[in-house]
Amino acid sequence: MARKTLAVLISGRGTNLQSLLDAAAQGDFPCTVGLVVSNRPGAPGLERAARAGVPHMTIDHRAFGKGEEGRAAFEAVLTEALADAGADLVCLAGFMRILTNSFVKRWEGRLINIHPSLLPAFRGLNVHQRMIDAGVKIAGCTVHFVSAEMDSGPIIGQAAVPVLPGDDAEALAARILIEEHRLYPACVRLLAEERARLQANGTVAFAPDVAAGAALLNPAPH
Ligand code: GRF
Repeated sequence: MARKTLAVLISGRGTNLQSLLDAAAQGDFPCTVGLVVSNRPGAPGLERAARAGVPHMTIDHRAFGKGEEGRAAFEAVLTEALADAGADLVCLAGFMRILTNSFVKRWEGRLINIHPSLLPAFRGLNVHQRMIDAGVKIAGCTVHFVSAEMDSGPIIGQAAVPVLPGDDAEALAARILIEEHRLYPACVRLLAEERARLQANGTVAFAPDVAAGAALLNPAPH
């Protein structure tokens, strides 16, 4: 099967982007990263793309003005860039911009996100502190298809980590991030190999040969 082309959308430091770049540098990974787009000028993740020799660009959303018109104009430019790059799959990796329904529809089944909680718990922002405040004992991360509502799309894979006594948001975020960096490439692999796909009824179907451990990284099933 030909390698698929990923586009990765970022806004910041880009450690999840790095995990995808590192995976793509391995010969047996079924994708290459064809484009990295940041909506924020100077995002450190752009440097990571440069170091990996991957085409990268900034599409500064602020240049398109506010309101619905500005959002649509921003997405039109983004859509063109993704099409020019021949993107098969679009990965949001710390992309801090809400996408419109029409963009989400256009990429339905090919647009995925990583979120640092075990969805559907703790959608939105500031999740690490909110998990500590809530006293949860198990946290984790989720890779999911993007749907119109934020952090709500069909789940592809998850990994869990403990919340330990004395954790602050930073310590918990660091523990989850280690799993994020394993989970995102694993889920991208499943999609690129067409061993996982979004079905019309909004659930995710896995090929019969997909081991439970492919999408449930930690704890591994036994
Ligand atoms: C990650 O925690 C990711 O789950 C969330 O935003 C953060 C991005 O980090 N969506 P990075 O830019 O990939 O380092």
